[in-house]
Amino acid sequence: MSEHVYQRPKLYQKQTDAFFNDSRYSWIEGSTKSGKTVSCMAWLFEQALFLGKPGRQFWWVAPVFAQAKIAYGRMKRGLPHELIRCNDTEQTITIIPNGAIISFKSGEKTDNLYGEDVWAAVLDEASRMRVEAFYAIRSTLTATRGHVRIIGNVKGRKNWFYLGCRKAEGGETGHSYHKIIATDAVAAGVFPQEELDDARRALPDAVFRELYLCEPSDDGGNPFGLQFIRLNIAPLSNDAPCVYGADLAKSVDWTVIHGLDARGTTCSHTRFQKPWTDTIDHIKLICGHTHTVLDSTGVGDPIVEMLNKVGDNYIGLKFAAQSKQMLMEGLAVAIQRGEVQYPDGVIVSELESFEYEYTRTGVRYSAPEGQHDDCVMALALAVHARNSRPPEPQVIVL
Ligand SMILES: Nc1ncnc2c1ncn2[C@@H]1O[C@H](COP(=O)(O)OP(=O)(O)OP(=O)(O)O)[C@@H](O)[C@H]1O
Ligand SMILES: [Mg+2]
Repeated sequence: MSEHVYQRPKLYQKQTDAFFNDSRYSWIEGSTKSGKTVSCMAWLFEQALFLGKPGRQFWWVAPVFAQAKIAYGRMKRGLPHELIRCNDTEQTITIIPNGAIISFKSGEKTDNLYGEDVWAAVLDEASRMRVEAFYAIRSTLTATRGHVRIIGNVKGRKNWFYLGCRKAEGGETGHSYHKIIATDAVAAGVFPQEELDDARRALPDAVFRELYLCEPSDDGGNPFGLQFIRLNIAPLSNDAPCVYGADLAKSVDWTVIHGLDARGTTCSHTRFQKPWTDTIDHIKLICGHTHTVLDSTGVGDPIVEMLNKVGDNYIGLKFAAQSKQMLMEGLAVAIQRGEVQYPDGVIVSELESFEYEYTRTGVRYSAPEGQHDDCVMALALAVHARNSRPPEPQVIVL
């Protein structure tokens, strides 16, 4: 008979307390990169090791298939190969000595999550998962009295994960609540302080607080901050424009031209739908020789070319996903610092309905599905134009 020694990875105290406790339900709000997934992997593996019998199921559930796959790959790499048998098609890891099966699943199709008896489960990225997935998994743990670890980032106050955490925090029997924030991970040496400082500078305050400090925003995921949006409402200025931003209509939306004066106050705002030749004439008429930044992605490119025939004050900006995010972050910073003002109405309502979403590659800002974002884009382009405009020619009086 062979003997194997399992050693739990070295976790810091807050990680151990949050995951390795006696509660049946442990709810953990954790900042990004605080070591949530690593801790859960160690926990689920130990559950499978100690409760495992041939065929007994232990589940890892992630919001979408791709995330379940990443977790499967991570656990497969992290465990001693002689102890496990992996099935890449099924995404299962069988622990050879006791026959327990760890399965990696997606929470998308919840019908597939019913029916088995599960001995322990992890719900990773719970704030991005549908509540139906939680109901399904709970039902699978009923017969076994299995334990579950429910982990996620904070994401507003309107989701089942947030509400579950509040109940656990309030002392619900059998539930415990834990919070691990980025400064805990920094103190434990798992997350670099420079990264945290960098994120604080780069991200809008509300986003930073949710992602790194686990403080829910009251804004329902609005990247600009609802109170800041309202603080900057001002009547149209009568001063001369010093920059314009223009978002060109693609297929269904509007062309919007947004002018800012030297103080950053909106002095002109035009929204129209016209054929391309009229659009070009209209832009020339409004913007003249003023520094103007236009979205030149796709159909915008030939338009900027045509405009350049009359002046080199027209600058095209081509968007890749990342540059669009930077533009939005620039706008968020300007709004939060009070560096831009706009009149009440369509601009404000577009700003208010904007949302952010966390993805694997970062934070993504967009209008909700089916809503316009052209006023926000034009405003963001105008703010960018203001920050990037060439210096005024110096007039030297002799
Ligand atoms: N106690 C620890 N000691 C050393 N390294 C750790 C520890 N905990 C986590 N890490 C490392 O920190 C990184 C982030 O860990 P992990 O992926 O578990 O975090 P997370 O909170 O799930 O992140 P995400 O926000 O991406 O979901 C990984 O490289 C992991 O190996
Ligand atoms: Mg994770």
